[in-house]
Amino acid sequence: MKVAVIGSGGREHAIAWKLAQTESWDNIFTLPGNGGIPNSHAIDTTNFAHIETFCRQKGIELIVVGPEIPLSAGIVDYFRTTDILILGPTKQAALLEGSKIWAKQFMQKHKVTTAASQTFTNSSNAYHFIQSLNNQCVIKYDGLAAGKGVFVCYNTADVTDAFNELEAQYGKQFPFLVEELLLGDEISIIGITDGNTIQLLQPSQDHKQLLDNDLGPNTGGMGAFCPVPFCNDALMQQIKTHIVSPTLNGLQAEGLDYKGFIYFGLMITPTGPKALEYNARLGDPETEVILPSLKSDLLPLVLACLNGTLSQHKLQFHEGFFVDVVLTSGGYPKQYSKGYPISGLDTVGDEVLVFHAGTDLQNSQIVTNGGRVLNIVGQGSTLNNAIAKAYEGVAKISFKDAYYRKDIGQRKSSN
Ligand code: AMP
Ligand code: GLY
Repeated sequence: MKVAVIGSGGREHAIAWKLAQTESWDNIFTLPGNGGIPNSHAIDTTNFAHIETFCRQKGIELIVVGPEIPLSAGIVDYFRTTDILILGPTKQAALLEGSKIWAKQFMQKHKVTTAASQTFTNSSNAYHFIQSLNNQCVIKYDGLAAGKGVFVCYNTADVTDAFNELEAQYGKQFPFLVEELLLGDEISIIGITDGNTIQLLQPSQDHKQLLDNDLGPNTGGMGAFCPVPFCNDALMQQIKTHIVSPTLNGLQAEGLDYKGFIYFGLMITPTGPKALEYNARLGDPETEVILPSLKSDLLPLVLACLNGTLSQHKLQFHEGFFVDVVLTSGGYPKQYSKGYPISGLDTVGDEVLVFHAGTDLQNSQIVTNGGRVLNIVGQGSTLNNAIAKAYEGVAKISFKDAYYRKDIGQRKSSN
């Protein structure tokens, strides 16, 4: 079966690599892909008709969507009217990610445990609620904002800064949420659903901040690891009871067409797990560790999702731990240069996986082409062994001004 993966980052490389365990790489097309994903085709993926034409030319029968933007733009609705299969939520169901207000109302209505919150359309009306939270709050712009719409505030100065930034971007009137600040450990729980059941992949954590010890500005993700040592059976059971099952019941009660990956961003607080957000897709960089940790083939799971038979599958996982260190261009997440040759890629050996994110192929040479450039993934029987393997891989690869965190996998948990 020929499959197209939509997207261009490390997540899409990992999806394509996992699908290529069932099918040959010749049958796994990535659109537009990048310099390091085999069988990448640089077509315009914002135009669904172009994707359809490409699929018909190549005989592609199934599409797996990586990023949120095409989902929120209705790519699934488009292909549901054709005979080409597609994995992902419809535009309406993708509101779980596309609108924080819609998602919060969904959580409240269907009793998914989450932070207390209120909705506003201008800052002056929000101050009363913010004061009742002692200024310890999180301000969230309603729509997709590529990670730049959420402001965690600890005092009045943070609140003022948040509104200044939001108003500079969206004017005085814009929809947003204010919610209580939750303290604890953040984890990512990612599942796959056919609408009748949700099967969970391994719990993971990502490292969003640029600098070691979780300092510095937020990025698209500097690394990830799985499984999470403190995430034991008892905690997983609480997560299922209070977050995953009510979400599935809610999807069914609302009659939403959701067949695909679903991401629960959770805070494990002293009083139990609470939902921070949904994403209507796989996380990046979490995918680069959770798909290598999945022993079961992915393609049969995707097909089971589409024909409603997922409950017949039991997911199998590899033993041990997986750690992903992201190599970035110096200057990221602000300004950085592109086009630097990358050396050492052929020296990492079979034990380390390399998923390309921002790379390009120029005259047979892989060069840097983005902020997050490469994901270097190590496996080990212990978390420390997996960390050591990943950094052995990192040490073999170089490009000008490369930067990476030195402490991936070593987050101190409060649990
Ligand atoms: P979101 O896109 O809603 O997940 O928010 C982005 C990030 O902000 C999360 O990954 C958390 O680190 C943080 N965050 C969001 N909501 C809260 C909250 N209620 N309490 C503490 N941190 C939060
Ligand atoms: N790693 C968080 C995300 O993919 O949104």
